[in-house]
Amino acid sequence: MNILVTAGPTREPIDPVRFLSNRSTGKMGYALAQAACERGHQVTLITGPTCLQPPAGTHTVPVETALDMLDATLAHIDGIDCAILCAAVADHRPKSPSQTKLKRSQNFPSTIDLIENPDILATLGRLPERKFFLAGFAAETDNVEEYAVDKLRKKNCDMIVANHASGLNTGFEADTNEVTLYFRDGRSVGIPLAPKLDIARAILATIEGA
Ligand code: PMT
Repeated sequence: MNILVTAGPTREPIDPVRFLSNRSTGKMGYALAQAACERGHQVTLITGPTCLQPPAGTHTVPVETALDMLDATLAHIDGIDCAILCAAVADHRPKSPSQTKLKRSQNFPSTIDLIENPDILATLGRLPERKFFLAGFAAETDNVEEYAVDKLRKKNCDMIVANHASGLNTGFEADTNEVTLYFRDGRSVGIPLAPKLDIARAILATIEGA
């Protein structure tokens, strides 16, 4: 299969040296890319800034902002059999980033106006006559199942991978994860706590059998 994976955070500039972002390290998305390569798939990895080495054999496309990630994803979507959107995309960006460094004592604003970023997963979910399998992630601190299933429906994907955002051993930054896969027909599959690469292998095996 041709598989597209998004990974890592996005950075939304405030000025040339500051940005809004989140705690994603890219570990889960890179593990998915590695697992997909191991299983003989062609992998395009669209990644926000991370400290990780892209898995050998992936076609890696580095991006910075949510708008860049949307453009790169749409530019690489033709011919894809499966898209797995694991990136933690910033939902908002500063409305008017400064072109020059803001000075603490001179012009640093006390508030920053934000505007909404496009939703990449929902954009793919709305593509007419979509033929590829579309998987999203949901990182939640509470009501995990309810919010994950709501995202599955609203973003029109085929599967959503739910993980706890606040656990020490799960979600952001952790080397391990514990996830539940939810499908449109109401089925769900739990994958118990394991290193992210093992979680990624189990997710790929489930997608291959779907
Ligand atoms: O990178 P790690 O440190 O290993 O952490 C892994 C992870 C916690 C980031 C990962 O497992 C995960 O849960 N990724 C999704 C995080 C997230 O942003 O979830 P969300 O519930 O806000 O978004 C739901 C889905 O919509 C995701 O597939 C996301 O990629 C997508 N989305 C969200 C916002 C947006 N503007 N565009 C999107 O495509």
